[in-house]
Amino acid sequence: MAKRPYIVGNWKMHGTRAMLAEARAIDRASERLIKVEVAVAPPFTLIHATRKEANLIGIGAQDCHNLEGGAHTGDISAVMLKDAGAGFTILGHSERRANHGEKDADVRAKGEAALAAGMNIIVCVGETEQQRDAGKATSVVTKMLKGSLPQCDDPAERITIAYEPVWAIGTGRTPTIEDIGDMHKAIRESLVAIYGEDAAPDMRILYGGSVKRENAAELLAAEEVGGALVGGASLSAESFLGIIIAAAETEEA
Ligand code: PGA
Repeated sequence: MAKRPYIVGNWKMHGTRAMLAEARAIDRASERLIKVEVAVAPPFTLIHATRKEANLIGIGAQDCHNLEGGAHTGDISAVMLKDAGAGFTILGHSERRANHGEKDADVRAKGEAALAAGMNIIVCVGETEQQRDAGKATSVVTKMLKGSLPQCDDPAERITIAYEPVWAIGTGRTPTIEDIGDMHKAIRESLVAIYGEDAAPDMRILYGGSVKRENAAELLAAEEVGGALVGGASLSAESFLGIIIAAAETEEA
């Protein structure tokens, strides 16, 4: 059965407690927008407070360590995030891969830890501009999926993929609708190869990279797009709700 579109806000390294008002506003509005599944991933410091303020939307983290605990100064485990109120975590975002040298195997280990802790995961993949220009976008993304995705008995319920071309993140540029559709179809094929024909068709594949209110309807209507991972435009309730409303309208169309 087709799932509701999933719209996830990635707040990145933005937000102090003043941002809780935005979370409250998103949460309140989402009560009327039941055709869409809404979530936000605030920074670690706001997870617990956001969970207390917002009880209708999903709350997640942006990363986790691959171990349950230990001598790892500054790191946070999936068990801790779950305890703080996170129901899911984003993993393998291109900013983590670029700024912290995370490799596919690291992403997979984190995914295993998050699933074991009882959290769902959103695994990010995407090519650089250079890779796209060289005609390697699909092979790069296929390899990332193979290396980054953990084994899972129930992937359709627990694992979401986010296709985020690196060159589209925070730049205002987006691929063509055709290119998004082609990549999402290739991702679906990889999911069939990894998880099998029963589970893969029900797994959600999000598009991310410069999604905003103005382009959301068009992007969400692309083939195989099951929602969006939104950075900059998720930082105010007003702009994020514009995207959520566009997703609800796509469902009605
Ligand atoms: P953006 O970020 O919407 O600001 O381009 C998307 C993301 O990095 O998840």
